[in-house]
Amino acid sequence: LPRNPNPVALPQPPIPDSCFPRVYLVGAGPGDPELLTLKALDVLGRADVVLHDDLVTPQVLAKVSPKASVFRVGKRCGPKRASQEEIHALMVAYARGGLRVVRLQGGDPVIFGRAGEEVRALREAGVDFEIVPGVTSPLGAAARAGIALTERGVASSVIFLTGHPRVHDPSGLAGSDLAWPSSIRPDTTVVIYMPGDDYALLAGGLSARGLDPETPCLIVSSASTACEQVHLSTVRELPRAPQLPSPKLLIVGQVVAPDRLRQREESAWAYLSTAV
Ligand SMILES: C[S@@+](CC[C@H](N)C(=O)[O-])C[C@H]1O[C@@H](n2cnc3c(N)ncnc32)[C@H](O)[C@@H]1O
Repeated sequence: LPRNPNPVALPQPPIPDSCFPRVYLVGAGPGDPELLTLKALDVLGRADVVLHDDLVTPQVLAKVSPKASVFRVGKRCGPKRASQEEIHALMVAYARGGLRVVRLQGGDPVIFGRAGEEVRALREAGVDFEIVPGVTSPLGAAARAGIALTERGVASSVIFLTGHPRVHDPSGLAGSDLAWPSSIRPDTTVVIYMPGDDYALLAGGLSARGLDPETPCLIVSSASTACEQVHLSTVRELPRAPQLPSPKLLIVGQVVAPDRLRQREESAWAYLSTAV
């Protein structure tokens, strides 16, 4: 097909820059730069300032305009780089200075990220913004494993949980400091972000909410990157599973039963076959 089917169409006048949002909250996806959306790629290529989290990989950062100023504002391990309030202040100050600001976060910015607080701060400051979604990490992990998180006849729902304890939980269940629902149906796929290292707490929490001890659990570290590692276990065996490096997540449910997982030749997946 001809690339310009309407040769008489006149070029559109450029849209004044003031019509564009000044801050973009962009999802960097799980690590593989090929999983960035076209919109994220476009925005990164036109950014003046990028404020990024620790989880954003160097391969994704390589897509940022060479003219942009790039600041790491992550809060994981090691010295704290910027408080959440400082991040808000930086976004607002740069945007008011007329710069195109990208706040770049791992995965999708609205899933276990700080987008809610950041949107509120931008609104209060009267700064326009746009959210550019990204592939949230378990979707990257599921794609690599070749599984469907809601496989028909196997799982009718998927829930996203965090392994971070909540401040107060009156439920009285094992692992009751986890911010989880009080029961989990067996036909649910459970995704646990930020699982931490206390796998016994997670296993106790899953059992207390009704999951069979033989329910499969897949631990995925650095999903979608060259460093990806996986370990297949069960709720019963989870406390004895190896501590894979962060970032890592857990996918729990029949959708990660051994016969559903894609077998691969790479070393990380050879590890999987020894663990099954
Ligand atoms: C603060 S949450 C941010 C989640 C992110 N917004 C998303 O949509 O994936 C950080 C957690 O995401 C998970 N995570 C992010 N990237 C990951 C990756 N490439 N592989 C495994 N887990 C990842 C880990 O559980 C990590 O502790």
